Amino acid sequence: MIELININKTYNGKVKAADNLTLTVPSGQIFGFLGPNGAGKTTAIKIITGILKADSGSVKVNGIDIGQKPLEVKKQIGFVPDTPNMFLRLKGIEYLGFMADMYEVAADQRKPRIEDLASRFGMADVLDDKILSYSHGMRQKIVLMGALIHEPSVWILDEPMTGLDPRSSFILKEMMREQVNEGKTVFFSTHVLDVAEKICDRVAIIDKGSILFTGTLAEMKEHFKKNESLENMFLELTESE
Ligand SMILES: Nc1ncnc2c1ncn2[C@@H]1O[C@H](COP(=O)(O)OP(=O)(O)O)[C@@H](O)[C@H]1O
Ligand SMILES: [Mg+2]
Repeated sequence: MIELININKTYNGKVKAADNLTLTVPSGQIFGFLGPNGAGKTTAIKIITGILKADSGSVKVNGIDIGQKPLEVKKQIGFVPDTPNMFLRLKGIEYLGFMADMYEVAADQRKPRIEDLASRFGMADVLDDKILSYSHGMRQKIVLMGALIHEPSVWILDEPMTGLDPRSSFILKEMMREQVNEGKTVFFSTHVLDVAEKICDRVAIIDKGSILFTGTLAEMKEHFKKNESLENMFLELTESE
């Protein structure tokens, strides 16, 4: 579970990227964080993962306050950032080893986890190549694998579908579903309505740093006009702001 309580963040004293954000992301459901570009999705995610400090407010992950126990919180999280261009000089396998070290994965669990992840994502044959040589989609996949190597109870992904081929995004969706079926938390951002509509059990819509709606897709559909596509609701929501 993730809890954001009255989070505020202003960049350079001007751009209010988080405006009194309050949000609860329960476990056991795929939760979509939906909003147009510049809405404040990445800012909120960076605050949840402890990369960025909020001006005010608090974040709890599985009940633990990130301000009080940042390391405890980070251990529970598997994070997939929006740009997968990291550690380019490492080989895929070295990167996974590094992530396993960072998250203290037991030695006897590494090999089976890496083999399982690599076979799912079709990456087994390229793990000895440098990440530099990978395509965007492959870089995305190695970052996904690295984020899952410690079997996190909270999975946070920033625009994870961007650049993934249809097969990989299908696999990713399956893995998200597996995680929540095990009672874990999956929270991901997207600006693509189709993605949210197809994957999420529950969504929050954010624009200009504020949450405009939180609920299940069904509740949302009911809340707005019947049978209207999420796209129309979404336009409505963002226009009215
Ligand atoms: N480091 C930064 N410095 C100044 N403004 C920023 C910075 N990062 C983001 N912003 C601004 O904050 C707002 C929210 O950005 P962001 O959280 O990246 O939105 P999203 O991920 O929804 O596209 C935007 O107006 C963006 O231009
Ligand atoms: Mg973003």
